[in-house]
Amino acid sequence: MKTVFSGIQPSGTLTLGNYLGALQHFVELQEDHHCFFCIVDQHAITVPQEKMKLRKNIRSLAALYLASGIDPEKSTLFIQSEVPAHAQLGWIMQCVSYIGELERMTQFKDKSAGKEAVSAALLTYPPLMAADILLYNTDIVPVGEDQKQHLELTRDLAERFNHKYNDIFTIPEAHIPKVGARIMSLQNPEKKMSKSDENQKAFVSMLDEEKTIIKKIKSAVTDSENEIRFDRENKPGIANLMSIYSLATGDSLEDIEKRYTGKGYGDFKQDTAEAVAALLRPVRERYHELIESEELDKILDEGAERAGRVAAKTLAKAERAMGLGRKRR
Ligand code: TYM
Repeated sequence: MKTVFSGIQPSGTLTLGNYLGALQHFVELQEDHHCFFCIVDQHAITVPQEKMKLRKNIRSLAALYLASGIDPEKSTLFIQSEVPAHAQLGWIMQCVSYIGELERMTQFKDKSAGKEAVSAALLTYPPLMAADILLYNTDIVPVGEDQKQHLELTRDLAERFNHKYNDIFTIPEAHIPKVGARIMSLQNPEKKMSKSDENQKAFVSMLDEEKTIIKKIKSAVTDSENEIRFDRENKPGIANLMSIYSLATGDSLEDIEKRYTGKGYGDFKQDTAEAVAALLRPVRERYHELIESEELDKILDEGAERAGRVAAKTLAKAERAMGLGRKRR
């Protein structure tokens, strides 16, 4: 059975983009893969975080994973900072990374642009991400399009380590969905939908109430034509809503084009909004049952223990291969 690993940052309430680009696929993969899903709180602190908010976001993300359908009987769900091997192997992966290749990461360039003080960890974010993945002998990493470059670097670092020291790491592969790998902002369809967008109307949060979801989708920026056609270049707003509609209902893009021939944007937006509201309703309900429960803590405790056992073995192999510590019999 192949092993799957993925992570999400607890840096705000997840968006519809996180759900359609990542979480939905995690839930499918757990049926026939050995899965590890992580709340990457150490990645979140590469930019300033308020203590109480971060705590809340970590718990909230755990509840969202479960409410979306991650089943702790099938998958291991855990918090990154509760498994020390991540930071330890993260350090080792920094030692095999070059500054130049880290500076070329577009996420680093975007997040550091125009900032006076940028943490060193924003630059060394990808080696920690590589460590996350490599600790579990991961074959498959389901992610959205924006993580593709980090995955390529992870493969390079793993190959470099294997070549230089010993063949320890499995070389992972990114799984990027064909539709929905990049859900765009509702207010600026040239930009990805992001949980840290200052404009609340730009994203649907997974916990938005039905009325809010409908309002946000109905006021999505489109174009001045009146034709529902999938054309990412010339009609990015409509293409984005069509992807959302398709993923929320399971209908193909062709079917959607056919159904709305001769109809206006109003009907299409209303139907898209209702499909999203229906998709998120059960997730939101389950979330509210879970968020204060002791069950949640038990799942995370067990998850950290299970993940910790696997991770410690890989870390020990990597340290031994490099000559760290003393030789043990
Ligand atoms: P993060 O927390 O930004 O996003 C979590 C997942 O959601 C996907 N995603 C999207 N997909 C489609 N459309 C969007 N608008 C959209 N926005 C986000 C992301 O691609 C991601 O799959 N660096 C990672 C976290 C991480 C990680 C890892 C991922 C740390 N270690 C190891 C995989 C494996 C991140 O910041 O994701």
